[in-house]
Amino acid sequence: MTHDHDHGRYNPNFDERAATWDDPTKVERSRRVADAIAAATSPDPGTRVLEYGAGTGLVTEALGERVGPALLADSSAGLREVMAAKIADGRLRDARITDLDLTADDAALPDERFDLIITVMVMHHVTDLDRVLGRFRRLLDPGGHLCIVDLDAEDGSFHGEGFTGHHGFDRDELAAHLRTAGFADVAMSDGGPIDRDDGSWSTFLAVAS
Ligand SMILES: C[S@@+](CC[C@H](N)C(=O)[O-])C[C@H]1O[C@@H](n2cnc3c(N)ncnc32)[C@H](O)[C@@H]1O
Repeated sequence: MTHDHDHGRYNPNFDERAATWDDPTKVERSRRVADAIAAATSPDPGTRVLEYGAGTGLVTEALGERVGPALLADSSAGLREVMAAKIADGRLRDARITDLDLTADDAALPDERFDLIITVMVMHHVTDLDRVLGRFRRLLDPGGHLCIVDLDAEDGSFHGEGFTGHHGFDRDELAAHLRTAGFADVAMSDGGPIDRDDGSWSTFLAVAS
């Protein structure tokens, strides 16, 4: 399978991995993540979604008709092209694509607000966590939910040599960052394992509102 490193050395180039991103393991995992998010947040067909770092849009695709219109943000042009193809052939329904980068100094936040913000396996790439969490809060409608799925704290083996992001997150520390960003309720649960031929890593689902 394709993943964030190729046996030892981290490969940050999401563009060149776009065409082979969707594989049965990622599709199945995205289905499980979508089911957990739906169970935790009870969306409806009017729920306005922002998926941040959407990749090929697998999680929004798996949510399907359980949610309403979606804005899919990703910084990789190659992955945005894959999402555009899915919109064109109907696999992604009622979706728009943006290159919005919430880590940027000059990020122009969209005027719209969302009921559900989803970000899966993205935050470990984000150095300035507090900036992005604060921006999520501004983009979320009161009563909405932010769902973060990411790695639990790990020893660096997930990405291997050369990775400069977070080695997963301590759940309590992340919850504290979420509270500082203005989220009153933070619930943590298991997000399921990521199994590869070179190891297994646990993940969490944080639901903040
Ligand atoms: C490990 S992938 C996960 C993709 C997708 N969420 C999934 O679960 O299949 C991380 C994604 O985050 C995107 N990304 C990384 N940094 C980003 C940033 N600052 N803004 C937006 N997207 C970013 C990458 O392009 C990539 O699509």
